[in-house]
Amino acid sequence: MKKYRKKVFRVISVVLMSVLMMALMACGSEEKENNTSVAVKETENPQESADETAVPDDTNEADNENTPESDSEKDSSILIAYFSWSGNSKSEAELIQEKTGGTFFEIVREEPYPEDYTECTEVAKKEKEDNERPSIKNPPESLDEYDKIVVCYPIWWHTAPMCVGTFLEKYDLQGKMVYPVSQSASMDEDQFSESVEFIKTCANGAEVQEGLFVDADDTNAVADYVEGSILK
Ligand SMILES: Cc1cc2nc3c(=O)[nH]c(=O)nc-3n(C[C@H](O)[C@H](O)[C@H](O)COP(=O)(O)O)c2cc1C
Repeated sequence: MKKYRKKVFRVISVVLMSVLMMALMACGSEEKENNTSVAVKETENPQESADETAVPDDTNEADNENTPESDSEKDSSILIAYFSWSGNSKSEAELIQEKTGGTFFEIVREEPYPEDYTECTEVAKKEKEDNERPSIKNPPESLDEYDKIVVCYPIWWHTAPMCVGTFLEKYDLQGKMVYPVSQSASMDEDQFSESVEFIKTCANGAEVQEGLFVDADDTNAVADYVEGSILK
């Protein structure tokens, strides 16, 4: 009887040991699974960062999307001719060039205007009173390849500088559109109108458009004019 009880006890022990071992094995495989999921997460992280690095690419893509869009707006048949003594008309011209992709031409008097403001006003005043057309440097041979000519200039003595007249009068502008763009210290509209009349007398055969008279800082107005008038 004692021997029989011992046998039963041994069987129970073996069964219990087996259950315990199975339980331990189950725990082990669960832990392994957990480790796998951590590993998956870890491999997900580089993926996430790859996605993150894709963000600037996406941004670039967006930029690239813009580039062709603005490319399609760009027009090689546009000439932006500008005269600027102190830089304001130049900045308007640069913005228009940037928005249209047109060709730039700076109108430069052969004999430069004085750098001193007062002296410059005296030279310009005499030029205007005598209705002179001072020589300019390297004017293009022809403007045949352009349909639209944007002319940027400051108001000098209530009109455009005479060297702008020199530039325009060199060409037959039949069938071309001319867009006067100007600004001045006083922003006096009558002075701008006077300058547009001057442009009309110099731009032989061209259809001179209404033009734009805004402060050089008003980049929105310049951009709107490009969209609404020049590129229309
Ligand atoms: C020779 C000269 C004449 C000017 N005459 C006028 C004028 O009649 N009316 C006016 O409002 N501003 C006048 N100004 C001021 C300019 O129009 C103003 O400074 C303009 O912003 C200059 O443009 P820019 O930087 O493209 O040269 C004159 C300036 C100069 C140098």
